[in-house]
Amino acid sequence: MKPLNIGMVGYGLMGRAHSNAFRKVRNFFPGEYQPVLKAICGRDGAPAQAFANTWGYESVETDWRKLVERADIDLIDIAAPNNVHGEIAIAAAKAGKMVMCEKPLAMHAAQGDAMVAAVEAAKVPNMVWYNYRRVPAVTLAKHLIDEGKLGKIFHYRSQFLQDWTISADVPQGGPGTWRLDAAIAGSGVTGDLLAHCIDTAQWLNGSINSVTAMTETFVKERTDSATGKKREVKIDDASAFLGRFDNGSLAIFEATRYARGHKALYTLEINGEHASLKWDLHDLHRLQYFDHRDDSRVRGWRSIHLSDSDQPYMSHWWIPGVQIGFEHTFVHQVADFLEGLANGTNAAPTFRDALKTDRVTDAVLASAQSGQWTDVAAA
Ligand SMILES: NC(=O)c1ccc[n+]([C@@H]2O[C@H](COP(=O)([O-])OP(=O)(O)OC[C@H]3O[C@@H](n4cnc5c(N)ncnc54)[C@H](O)[C@@H]3O)[C@@H](O)[C@H]2O)c1
Repeated sequence: MKPLNIGMVGYGLMGRAHSNAFRKVRNFFPGEYQPVLKAICGRDGAPAQAFANTWGYESVETDWRKLVERADIDLIDIAAPNNVHGEIAIAAAKAGKMVMCEKPLAMHAAQGDAMVAAVEAAKVPNMVWYNYRRVPAVTLAKHLIDEGKLGKIFHYRSQFLQDWTISADVPQGGPGTWRLDAAIAGSGVTGDLLAHCIDTAQWLNGSINSVTAMTETFVKERTDSATGKKREVKIDDASAFLGRFDNGSLAIFEATRYARGHKALYTLEINGEHASLKWDLHDLHRLQYFDHRDDSRVRGWRSIHLSDSDQPYMSHWWIPGVQIGFEHTFVHQVADFLEGLANGTNAAPTFRDALKTDRVTDAVLASAQSGQWTDVAAA
């Protein structure tokens, strides 16, 4: 096997998810390239070293610029907050490294344009971690739609609901709460949660071309975790939009961190001429499917439990009846990326694919501000 030396930036939630995937992928998905955990980069050496010890990284860097310059690194993986995606990805591409980057691609689409230009000019393989595409039930939904089982699509509705910022005591900035600081996160739930819904939607159902949106910031001031002083909150706490897809279907999307009782309820439902399907993250191993063409005596919603070996990705895992979960979506993403490297294709979503999501989130934020229907800029 050919070694593929990984240099990862960030050792938080996604640092763990990605490290787990790089370590595990070849135990379950055979192939040509073997990921090697060469270096982990964080600003603080001691926790970075502790992370390296836990996960088996060979070395530690405290400045991503040094990591990007290292001759022994093939791929830079960006698992750090949104404000650093752009400069790290562009520097990595210029240094000839492959780049995997967490979502959202950029702080806004203009920055995303520069990132796409950098990876395409350098001709380096690139990918963005929109991992929900690789939940087997979501991949099956894609197959069913592409086979025409739903017929003409009329409606696509999607939500991503959380409840962790309702208390006004949650600070902004700093570890764990950088998502509430617009300077680090770019936007609130629009770029954080709706971006996942939009990526999946455009993959399953084609481009969204126009939106009308509303956003709200329920808590107007929060303590800055660095200074201890209150300052204005500039992210959106909740965001909802109506939209139109190129194929004529209608979009209804919502994301919030103020839905008491919901921790990470990502849902989608698609209604077509012949059939409908729905999925949710809390029951991620099931796809709900209704086909109007069934014998009317037994017609009804089917709850398909994805565990059989003829369902997407499942032949690589356990036995029929035994399900997989969240972590496996990252393993699937790495497996597909590595297979793309071996056969000379760049597995999706590429930076260019992910930029389409940033264009929609930009339009959502612009529409919420203007109160007008807003066209999504062409990709
Ligand atoms: N695909 C998904 O399902 C998913 C889920 C959560 C987060 N994310 C994305 O992953 C990224 C990271 O989120 P997270 O939840 O892992 O955050 P986190 O706060 O858990 O971890 C962030 C890490 O980045 C490090 N970091 C911050 N600034 C840095 C810098 N300048 N140089 C080096 N390291 C730096 C922090 O020290 C920390 O280790 C974000 O872009 C987020 O949107 C994606």
